[in-house]
Amino acid sequence: MTIKLAVLPGDGIGPEVVGAALEILDRAESLFGFRTERTTYLVGGCSIDKHGIPLTDEAMAGIAKADLALLGAVGGPKWEGLKYEVRPERALLRLRAELGLFANLRPATVFPELADASSLKREIVEGVDVLVLRELTGGVYFARPKGVTKNEQGERYGVNTMAYSESEIRRIVKLAFELARLRRKKVTSVDKANVLEVSELWRNIAIELHKEFPDVALEHMYVDNAAMQLIRNPRQFDVLVTENLFGDILSDEAAMLTGSIGLLPSASLGQASGNSGIRYGLYEPVHGSAPDIAGQGKANPIATVLSVAMMLDYSLGQQKAARAIEKSVRDTLAAGVRTPDIAVKGQAAASTREMTRALLDHLKA
Ligand code: IPM
Ligand code: MG
Repeated sequence: MTIKLAVLPGDGIGPEVVGAALEILDRAESLFGFRTERTTYLVGGCSIDKHGIPLTDEAMAGIAKADLALLGAVGGPKWEGLKYEVRPERALLRLRAELGLFANLRPATVFPELADASSLKREIVEGVDVLVLRELTGGVYFARPKGVTKNEQGERYGVNTMAYSESEIRRIVKLAFELARLRRKKVTSVDKANVLEVSELWRNIAIELHKEFPDVALEHMYVDNAAMQLIRNPRQFDVLVTENLFGDILSDEAAMLTGSIGLLPSASLGQASGNSGIRYGLYEPVHGSAPDIAGQGKANPIATVLSVAMMLDYSLGQQKAARAIEKSVRDTLAAGVRTPDIAVKGQAAASTREMTRALLDHLKA
């Protein structure tokens, strides 16, 4: 069976890190015996330059027809002055909505070799392994009413709405329990149930669903407290599940625990697959397009490489290949190979190319 992979290199360092990750994928395919057929699409600023909009209907249709997608990064100062509707980021929101990618997985793992790269003390971050599970297609990002109008006093009046249906909450919280079962069996559901009705519903549904997962511990935490606990005692978290905007904020905070945003992968998943056996997912590094270093061979490809490992895990059921890629990353770091973002003072930094070579050398069946 051939797997149809949509490749979306995007802007800035996107094409460099995606290129590197595809080399790793090539090697994994020959080592583990599977094959992807790849088609490249323009998304973000590069699409604005060519077509005037960040994602064309043709690209959208092609990406939707694929089995899964790998994205680099979108955006950059060049497109920042544009109208809100045609900014590069809009492409991401359209992809999420139209592909039904309701679940965003952002694991923040502290590699022992890099614990000193965090802005927090080593004894706080050592051993941190938290999976932030963010709801991605609902809540205040998408719900209506939204927009800027005039109110009765003739003032400009801006509205967004935090709204969730029962089924939207249920599917993401259920996935949190399922993922926790494969980990340390603890779910922290983050809400603002002391103030927001929508959060109260979220919490009640989490409590109801918990009955189906008695082997998993469930705790609830208010979002302000969660922001504090993440830097006070991050090791208490296993799976942290939350709504779209809270998850946007807390996932950046969790990323900083690791001190090395160039290492963090992410997956955005749709509904579990029907008969193809492949679950649609959009995989991308957590970092942005880093226009300041684009094209200089300085980008760290590891976050995108680990995103490929997540793709093998969650969409393709190639667990052995996923573990082998993760091991190649750990072994490469242990061997002291460092791109500039994770190099410590005085250490010679590897280029994107050198890092990719080292990862390939360490990738074994
Ligand atoms: C993210 C980003 C996006 C978001 C932006 C770029 C639209 O911050 O993926 O976390 O807010 O979801
Ligand atoms: Mg964000």
